[in-house]
Amino acid sequence: MTYLFLRYRFTFFSNITCRTFSEITSQKNGLRANVLTGDTTLKKALNKNVTSEIATLPPLPQIPQKYCRSQFEEGDMVLLRDTQKRIKSSRVFLVGPLKIGNKREVPGGILEHSSIIGKSIRDIVKTNKADKSYTIHFPTMDEYVVMIPRLMTPIYPKDASAIVSLLDLHPYSRIMEAGTGNGSLTLYLARSLYPTGHLHSIDINRDASIKARKNVTRFSRGIYSDCISFSIGQCSKVLDSMDITLSMYDGVVLDMPEPWNELSSIVPRVKIDRYIVCYLPNMTQVLELIKQIKYHQIALATEQVLEIQWRPWNVRATVIRNKMDDESFSVKQLTLNDEIPDQALGHICRPSHEPTGHTAFLVQLKKIVHT
Ligand SMILES: C[S@@+](CC[C@H](N)C(=O)[O-])C[C@H]1O[C@@H](n2cnc3c(N)ncnc32)[C@H](O)[C@@H]1O
Repeated sequence: MTYLFLRYRFTFFSNITCRTFSEITSQKNGLRANVLTGDTTLKKALNKNVTSEIATLPPLPQIPQKYCRSQFEEGDMVLLRDTQKRIKSSRVFLVGPLKIGNKREVPGGILEHSSIIGKSIRDIVKTNKADKSYTIHFPTMDEYVVMIPRLMTPIYPKDASAIVSLLDLHPYSRIMEAGTGNGSLTLYLARSLYPTGHLHSIDINRDASIKARKNVTRFSRGIYSDCISFSIGQCSKVLDSMDITLSMYDGVVLDMPEPWNELSSIVPRVKIDRYIVCYLPNMTQVLELIKQIKYHQIALATEQVLEIQWRPWNVRATVIRNKMDDESFSVKQLTLNDEIPDQALGHICRPSHEPTGHTAFLVQLKKIVHT
């Protein structure tokens, strides 16, 4: 065990050393230049008596009372974090929307919603078996979209953030997505447009659209709901029945199996030089899309085809056993109580074991001709 641990440690430190030096070399001229490189820019700045310049910040924004989330109310979604599982992967559960009289079975007993309502962020709540407790949190968007029950395969955080970036959105953008599915990507898009932009979300499946609206309304007290309009129907049919001036888009995302069938109605509604991003799990779909664009002479250029890598690492403190003075200790307890003696403090730092496989390809298309 000790051997294995030390082996991993040495591998880690040699990796870090290599990465650090290569990073340093490649960023020598950049803002993150490091004093270790011998690059003198930062060294000089640190040695010189620099005259500071302190910005004047604008006053704090007036946040509507509804969105000041300090205490839990009826209707809120809550993330429960097991207080005993902080060491490796903490066990988390999504509960809600909170309703007086409702309860939820969790490992270690039953939790009444009313035991959460009125409590503050990070308070501890107990199940009916008093030895089991959870801290309570508002879920982040990433936690929420991964943990809500789903009808369709959602677009996960890594791809959603990349799509937001590829569309080059800003708070006055008007965009369209099809299909809505669970409304997961919908939330990311709406957040990047909030509060002045607008998202038109279309799905051919009524049940999906209705579920997505619920998911959007339940997240963060529905803060993004007003930025979104939902339509039900086949994407091109919905668009063809609308006033074209109201459906001129700064960007479009298509998460459906055959997006090429919809392009003839979509492209005239996309502003020149703006993007359509298609989310396609298979390379055969990517090829079909590109062939169809060429065959039908659609005014789109393929800017990029991407696969997004998101590689979580496991980084946490641990005990180096052979540096402890006596044998009678619990690694778990020392770590949990943050009581690892300095001489025995080590760190596990390696890619985590979670599978982070392929999700889909992102195809970024640009409208290149006025139509
Ligand atoms: C994989 S799901 C989308 C998931 C969604 N992006 C999310 O993050 O939750 C695909 C959706 O596309 C819808 N769909 C398929 N073809 C469509 C079309 N031609 N027009 C509109 N919606 C369509 C399906 O009904 C389905 O809900």
